Amino acid sequence: MATVPGIQPHGGTLINRILRGVAREGALERAHSLPRLFLSPVGVSDAELIANGAYSPLSGFMNNADYDSVVDTMHLQSGQVWAIPITLPASPSFAASIKEGDEIGLYEPDGGEGHLLGTMEVQEVFSCDKQREAREVYRTTEEAHPGVAALYAREDTLLGGPITLLNRPLDQTFQRFRFDPIQTRRMFASRGWRRTVGFQTRNPIHRAHEYIQKAALEIVDGLLLHPLVGDTKEGDIPADVRMESYEAILRDYYPAERVLLGVFPAAMRYAGPREAVFHALCRKNYGCTHFIVGRDHAGVGKYYGTYDAQLIFDEFRSEEIGIMPLLFEHAFYCTKCQAVVTAKTCPHGREDWLFLSGTQVREMLARGQAPPPEFTRPEVAEILIKGYQGL
Ligand code: ADX
Repeated sequence: MATVPGIQPHGGTLINRILRGVAREGALERAHSLPRLFLSPVGVSDAELIANGAYSPLSGFMNNADYDSVVDTMHLQSGQVWAIPITLPASPSFAASIKEGDEIGLYEPDGGEGHLLGTMEVQEVFSCDKQREAREVYRTTEEAHPGVAALYAREDTLLGGPITLLNRPLDQTFQRFRFDPIQTRRMFASRGWRRTVGFQTRNPIHRAHEYIQKAALEIVDGLLLHPLVGDTKEGDIPADVRMESYEAILRDYYPAERVLLGVFPAAMRYAGPREAVFHALCRKNYGCTHFIVGRDHAGVGKYYGTYDAQLIFDEFRSEEIGIMPLLFEHAFYCTKCQAVVTAKTCPHGREDWLFLSGTQVREMLARGQAPPPEFTRPEVAEILIKGYQGL
């Protein structure tokens, strides 16, 4: 077995459910005669991330016991921390057509026969209580919450069992930035990074992001800039525009030998605190030793308190998380300090602080107006304005 450099993966083993070579050929042959289950975009991204080890120790979609345990206690049956259910919904008619123990083919819709992703051994067919999942995982049962709306839109019959991946998903954009956890680990090792901080984002980099990334970089060896490029809600800035903005800012303002830009092809759940734990554990699997959690991490609207996604880490022993969360207060520009600051580092008051909401920024961009350079670097603003005009 290949050695896995760097920090221990979550659960101790970096899962690899990707079949290659002769084993893959044989499985491809068999797969064509199996019942076909079409996956949603979330299911497609989850299948790839289970298979490449980003979701270690998961080796498949959750069975009933793990699902209940994760929803109720944020731990798998095995005792390891896991905060977000990773489930595979199926229509009642599909579920009725298979027995536990059957193998099925997992397909990505492609407008035709479907694109074969892999196979799954269905160990369990079970049903879930979506209201309970919403209440426990999202802390709200309101459908206005985009993660809850997506949950309610899914079937409530779930299939659990291990998977194997035979083909990658169809969307392979950002190819240059697609690295599996084993690859990022090797890249960190070859750069001599012993400590690497991971940064999750679904937004373009603004000055506050840059401040917390660079503050973190001061105490570690490297930064994994790891934007999420899977499914996001309407209104979020599209991944291709964001990627262009990341490349621009890295070119001009970051030392190349200290930063790795890679994409995280997961779907956004908007589950705030629980998703922060999930994001941290995934980045541990990619080889990060540290993980940034700032204000309202993975939040949406007013569903979570500004620091709830930090407080949740107090519910665990540090060794059960195994990656060090770096917690940052709300950062913004202070006109007196002439720097990005937080209330922890700046003695001035609100009248000197520049705050812009996401909505205000989006409105400015849509009008073709650049946000102030204290908020967004002009190089980034230019790309965002162009991106908005193309929408
Ligand atoms: S997220 O949904 O991916 O968390 P976003 O891209 O806005 O959204 O945030 C990326 C990371 O930066 C998160 O850890 C978030 O908490 C942090 N963050 C965003 N804006 C600020 C800010 N102004 N001050 C401190 N942390 C921030």
